[in-house]
Amino acid sequence: MKNLNCNSGFVWLMTMSILFLIARSQLTEDFYSTSCPNLRNIVLKQVLNAIKTETRMAASLLRLHFHDCFVNGCDASILLDGNDGEKFAFPNINSARGFEVVDAIKTAVESSCSGVVSCADILAIAAQDSVLLSGGPSWKVLLGRRDGLVANQSGANTNLPGPTESVANITAKFLAVGLNLTDVVSLSGAHTIGSARCAVFSNRLFNFSGTNGPDETLLDQAMVSDLQAQCPANGDGNKTTALDRNSVDLFDNHYFQNLVNGKGLLESDQFLYSSDEAVSTTRTLVEIYSNDSRIFVNDFVRSMIKMGNTNPLTGESGEIRKNCRVVNS
Ligand code: HEM
Ligand SMILES: *[C@@H]1O[C@H](CO)[C@@H](O)[C@H](O)[C@H]1NC(C)=O
Ligand SMILES: *[C@@H]1O[C@H](CO)[C@@H](O)[C@H](O)[C@H]1NC(C)=O
Ligand SMILES: *[C@@H]1O[C@H](CO)[C@@H](O)[C@H](O)[C@H]1NC(C)=O
Ligand SMILES: *[C@@H]1O[C@H](CO)[C@@H](O)[C@H](O)[C@H]1NC(C)=O
Ligand SMILES: *[C@@H]1O[C@H](CO)[C@@H](O)[C@H](O)[C@H]1NC(C)=O
Ligand SMILES: *[C@@H]1O[C@H](CO)[C@@H](O)[C@H](O)[C@H]1NC(C)=O
Repeated sequence: MKNLNCNSGFVWLMTMSILFLIARSQLTEDFYSTSCPNLRNIVLKQVLNAIKTETRMAASLLRLHFHDCFVNGCDASILLDGNDGEKFAFPNINSARGFEVVDAIKTAVESSCSGVVSCADILAIAAQDSVLLSGGPSWKVLLGRRDGLVANQSGANTNLPGPTESVANITAKFLAVGLNLTDVVSLSGAHTIGSARCAVFSNRLFNFSGTNGPDETLLDQAMVSDLQAQCPANGDGNKTTALDRNSVDLFDNHYFQNLVNGKGLLESDQFLYSSDEAVSTTRTLVEIYSNDSRIFVNDFVRSMIKMGNTNPLTGESGEIRKNCRVVNS
């Protein structure tokens, strides 16, 4: 009898632990294995189509997942339309792109499995597919996020790092979402693909009288001249150029080699190697990644999974949006 009591107590404890785990609803690899078994192929096909049309789209989709996760967690809040939405926050306006591709993915997913796959998970899968199709690693994306009910423009303005920010300031923004200094450096390696507008680095090219003075001490002189020609003062601030001039469409460790050679495009990129504070924080890791792409890729994957775990809505929170641009009515 005593034994039985002990056993049923044990069973009770196990049951409660399992219920507790379910209630906490961690993300899982196989979340849609019965509700949408072909999900990964459906998304991959759409991302492949989009990248065939425009190679840069890989970078744009990767960035969308990042900008989503840093604001109210990975909840697809960035996808919500409206003038007061995140799309119109400074870090996104005139630069965040790929929304039509997300719509196309969502439409394809809905036609196979209606009403079960969140837009937040679509962003996470599309980011992984984009890295893979750019020649980078693949990893098992954790799934089960639900979609948020609000966009947060002020949150986007506050939480997202800017191109003239110091290592300390950027690190603080990463720490705020549970990411550390290693994640700052490894995830910055995403700038191995994609482009940036003249407007976000022109402060480095000319002797403005403002606070953002020239930093030719950090930027390779030949690159300064070349960029001055591409981005003349009073030119089109929306014109874009490669973040990694060595291999813009390829996911590799050239971004870090560029930093070691003084060829980082954004001031924030180059700070990771050249700033005074980098010496005791990020510089060694930049060198390690620059010397060994396998270490970079390993850390990048770990950091992407970590970033994708930022405050997901699970269980009964949020909803599965029907249209990624609007909350369900
Ligand atoms: C560490 C701090 C970061 C800063 C300061 C930063 C800043 C920027 C800026 C200013 C641009 C260009 C935007 C424009 O043209 O107006 C950009 C582009 C990009 N960022 Fe970052 N970023 C950071 C981290 C990240 C992370 C963590 C990822 C992804 C994991 C990422 C992925 C990208 C990609 C792929 C692009 C190119 C997008 C395209 O070509 O459409 N960035 N970033
Ligand atoms: C918006 O983001 C900020 C910063 O993360 C947060 O403090 C605030 O609660 C968010 N607001 C809403 C309405 O989600
Ligand atoms: C860092 O953040 C502080 C506080 O928000 C701000 O005053 C300062 O200008 C920032 N520095 C840089 C280099 O971004
Ligand atoms: C950052 O976190 C990872 C685990 O996610 C850990 O392995 C790494 O050592 C941490 N880096 C720093 C600088 O604390
Ligand atoms: C900025 O001004 C300094 C001193 O006048 C000059 O040496 C430097 O070449 C200028 N930089 C650029 C990018 O024009
Ligand atoms: C970029 O283009 C947008 C939309 O056409 C325009 O409103 C904005 O002023 C331009 N930005 C710059 C820096 O030229
Ligand atoms: C990277 O390689 C360079 C050149 O071989 C070497 O000088 C440097 O010490 C290496 N750095 C690290 C952190 O491994």
